Amino acid sequence: MSLLISNVGSLVTNDPALGEGPLGLLSDAAVVVEGDRVAWVGRAGDAPAADETVDAAGRALLPGFVDSHSHLVFAGDRTAEFNARMSGRAYSAGGIRTTVAATRAASDAELNANLTRYLAEMLRQGTTTVEVKSGYGLSTADEARSLRIAAGHTEETTYLGAHVVGPEFAEDPAGYVDLVTGEMLEACAPFAKWVDVFCERGAFDGDQARAVLTAGMAKGLAPRVHANQLSFGPGVQLAVELGAASADHCTHLTDQDVAALADGDTVATLLPGAEFSTRAPYPDARRLVDAGARVALSTDCNPGSSFTSSMPFCIAVAVREMGMTPDEAVHAATAGGAQALRRTDVGRITPGARADLQLLDAPSHVHLAYRPGVPLTAAVWQGGARKGGVRTV
Ligand code: NIG
Ligand code: FE
Repeated sequence: MSLLISNVGSLVTNDPALGEGPLGLLSDAAVVVEGDRVAWVGRAGDAPAADETVDAAGRALLPGFVDSHSHLVFAGDRTAEFNARMSGRAYSAGGIRTTVAATRAASDAELNANLTRYLAEMLRQGTTTVEVKSGYGLSTADEARSLRIAAGHTEETTYLGAHVVGPEFAEDPAGYVDLVTGEMLEACAPFAKWVDVFCERGAFDGDQARAVLTAGMAKGLAPRVHANQLSFGPGVQLAVELGAASADHCTHLTDQDVAALADGDTVATLLPGAEFSTRAPYPDARRLVDAGARVALSTDCNPGSSFTSSMPFCIAVAVREMGMTPDEAVHAATAGGAQALRRTDVGRITPGARADLQLLDAPSHVHLAYRPGVPLTAAVWQGGARKGGVRTV
């Protein structure tokens, strides 16, 4: 079956060879999908015929969002903690343990149902690729089942046994690092593609983070790092040194950290939902972009520090508060996320790419920032399959 999406007012291809600027923008465009792939992209008037046609009615079509950082295997929520924070209490890494207790007490079916629900919520907002981390189990059995459940939904699964020190090891952090780099890694590696560590005061220091990442790499997992979120620290430098795909958060950066990101291959993934929900200063996206670093945006969806599943929300905040232009923010939420996952088949609308597409109820991708909080998703295709209906104008 082939599908022609015609009469696209503005198309974001993310391929500068296909259109204008870094977004490769084409106006009055069309896209042909065959099976799960994009088969053709060009001017509407030149489009070949297809089995089915959808009239975009002059609206904007862009790649599905690539949300490269989420923590969606969990039970319960942390409403009380959020309430307390909005009454002036500070955020700390320790809150993670509240969710660990709820997650351990939940059945596999409950965890799977929660994950399914949040992924559906994301899809309705245009997200077609999602990375999912473990990290609310913190025992061998609970981390392994978290990853097994996540692997049932996405190939982008991340072992985050080193989220915080497990409650049983409160007095023996070195013992916990031994577990995370030993028996727990052994049990989790079959279900994981990535290894991550929360390198932060109250979580793991630079040496512990290095031990966790290098053990994961020795098992074939590729590294990514929660780096420099709550304070300055060694996370970013370690990420770049180890060739991590991404250093995530990047809220507190020295000039040396920015230079390391600009010179290395590690993507700086910014997570504005976390600063929004913890009432903290935002990372300086402008400084990173101007230095030449590659930037991704992601939700960090989790019940503690960032309980949003909305990439449009993150785009709007990045533009309003972090110095990004709308074009840069949309690029970061699509092609940037793909780079942060080292994927070349998503985050772009080019022949051969996966047909992960979103149609907006708007004439331009700029409306994602210009119309904050407005549900603009008119249709989503994932691997060429339409998810839900097409909202007509
Ligand atoms: O990315 N930084 C560490 N992990 C999450 C927070 C998780 C939590 O508070 O439950 C984050 O913000
Ligand atoms: Fe996170």
